[in-house]
Amino acid sequence: MLHSPLNRQLAERHHASAPLVAAISSLGRAAKRIAFELRGAGLAGLLGDAGTTSHQGEAQQKLDLHANDLICAELRFSGTTGIVASEEIEQPHLLNDTGSLAVLIDTLDGSSNIDANMPVGMIFSIYARLGSSPSADVLQPGCQQLAAGYVIFSSATVMVVATSGRVDAFTLCPYTGDFLLSLAAITTPVTSQYYSVNEGYAATWDPATQQFVAAHRIGRRGRYVGALVADFHRNLLYGGLFLYPADHSSGQPVTKLRLCYEGNPLAFIAEAAGGAGSTGRQRLLAIQPTNLHQRVAIAIGSRDDVAAYEAALRAQ
Ligand code: AHG
Ligand code: MN
Ligand code: MN
Repeated sequence: MLHSPLNRQLAERHHASAPLVAAISSLGRAAKRIAFELRGAGLAGLLGDAGTTSHQGEAQQKLDLHANDLICAELRFSGTTGIVASEEIEQPHLLNDTGSLAVLIDTLDGSSNIDANMPVGMIFSIYARLGSSPSADVLQPGCQQLAAGYVIFSSATVMVVATSGRVDAFTLCPYTGDFLLSLAAITTPVTSQYYSVNEGYAATWDPATQQFVAAHRIGRRGRYVGALVADFHRNLLYGGLFLYPADHSSGQPVTKLRLCYEGNPLAFIAEAAGGAGSTGRQRLLAIQPTNLHQRVAIAIGSRDDVAAYEAALRAQ
């Protein structure tokens, strides 16, 4: 029922195991701490660049690193997470020898938005450990996820959690500090009036994508926040298509978003809500990852919109 607390809803309606409930609850504790830090970041000197570059060659925001530390500490404390893999860390990290789960994290998504007080998010993807090696644990196809979710830090702090076939949203109660069920059994409209793509890059797309977007935008409203979680969340609730196509300007297709901790968790959520997640040519959840930080093109959201884009690419 609405306002059911996170751990009870996970156990009773998602039939999540105790280790999985513990891991997601620890992510909820980390999210509360991040939400608190974000509110005062401008006064605590936590905004802006950390002055470091990640192993992926990207400038790191102070809060990227701070969120990473908070999340890893809470996951370690939960005891049920054996392996954590993060956008900010090159290799998977052993937290607890006995932990049965592997958790993959985009610790702060849309972090370039932070200084302008725009929405940001955290994305998580949870697998059962296979037990052979940390890299095998984290390089599983997205269809093997036990659960996936994100937290959007905006006017409210909302955690969305999906297990196979069910998506619920929990709002952080400002009075009690608990994540309480606010939207139950979310389904996403099969088509929509919204589309989200950075049209500043249109000249770099393949011709079929250029033609598709030029036609798809007619009669639709463009919404693009610059934080994947924020665009995805609006599209999940209202319907919409989020596209991040490859950049072909160098001759070779170059993509930006990461499969393992951006594409797969959001595709798992989209499919559980009746939507779809694709590269434009194949289902994201069917891809066998080869590298923790590998990048893919992404077309995700309303089922019929994703299918229309895939058909446009097939026809080219
Ligand atoms: P992150 O902050 O985790 O690196 O993710 C940023 C991503 C994603 O959140 C967003 O949709 C995309 O970058 C925006 O990219 P552009 O600024 O190139 O449009
Ligand atoms: Mn991201
Ligand atoms: Mn990030």
